[in-house]
Amino acid sequence: MARAGIQMLLLVAAVVISAASGSSIPEEVAYNPLEHDSLHGKHFDGGEHNAQFDHEAFLGPDESKKFDNLTPEESRRRLGLIVDRIDENKDGFVTLPELKNWIAYTQRRYIDEDVGRLWKEHNPEKNESISWESYRKTVYGFMDDLSNEEKEKEENGISYKSLLKRDRNRWAAADLDLDDKLTREEFTAFLHPEDHPKMKYVVLTETINDLDKDKDGKISVDEYIGDMYRAAEPGDEEPEWVANEREAFSNHRDLDKDGYLNVEEVKQWIAPHDFDHSESEAKHLMFEADVDHDDQLTKAEILDKYDVFVGSQATDFGEALARHDEF
Ligand SMILES: *[C@@H]1O[C@H](CO)[C@@H](O)[C@H](O)[C@H]1NC(C)=O
Repeated sequence: MARAGIQMLLLVAAVVISAASGSSIPEEVAYNPLEHDSLHGKHFDGGEHNAQFDHEAFLGPDESKKFDNLTPEESRRRLGLIVDRIDENKDGFVTLPELKNWIAYTQRRYIDEDVGRLWKEHNPEKNESISWESYRKTVYGFMDDLSNEEKEKEENGISYKSLLKRDRNRWAAADLDLDDKLTREEFTAFLHPEDHPKMKYVVLTETINDLDKDKDGKISVDEYIGDMYRAAEPGDEEPEWVANEREAFSNHRDLDKDGYLNVEEVKQWIAPHDFDHSESEAKHLMFEADVDHDDQLTKAEILDKYDVFVGSQATDFGEALARHDEF
């Protein structure tokens, strides 16, 4: 089954399970159900944000997972090796363009690997293209045995039926030559629409559909926040970054100040004309690590901030142990 498909089903399962047990939704689900949203850089608004976002931008999601299990020492050692590669002209300094190139490279590498893996999985006969029917059977074939009620059962506004519909629409948008089959290039646009100008409209539609829980055609501030954060217990005080996001909504997103995001405003938010993901992430990392403010990074500056660049679960674990020792 497709990884994307599995992810979506896991998402539904997680929502179903947490709703049933009355517990909070797991963080990775609550933070961001929309794959395409992980690239929209909304974490720059609020100051504090999801550190995992930086690690994935810097290493790519697959590498980032590997780093999660390293000790801080090993994590720093490997980061040192990466820094040598980022420093293209080997002058001992990492500049903003070098950092930006690296981030763009890890992103491309991840997309290539991801598409390569799924292409093979869905196309064992090595055809020129994959037919919708074949893709649908692999990913959603299980739905043939469900009752209508089960297909339409919604959890948090998402049902199997709506997932299928979303994939169907995305497939149609990616299918440039209208033969209902996707070539590898078209399949790339299907899996990673965020990078494809031709997929802009479908990304916009998906985003609005996903956020607009009450289906009134516009996004309220609560719908906007609900996509990134849900309180563990009702009435819990919101963390500061959520308050910052609420402010960002009023000050930067809701351009006509009517309390809602309309289609145009959502478009501006997710795909501003001049937004360059690699550049804004590179600037952000530079800002975090450039302690002497000379607009370039030495290896020492980067290693000092290894948690920002690559993170390591071992740090958290170490802290957890340290905290435990106090008691
Ligand atoms: C590959 O081609 C064969 C023969 O035309 C077809 O039966 C099969 O469904 C195709 N596979 C995919 C993934 O589209």
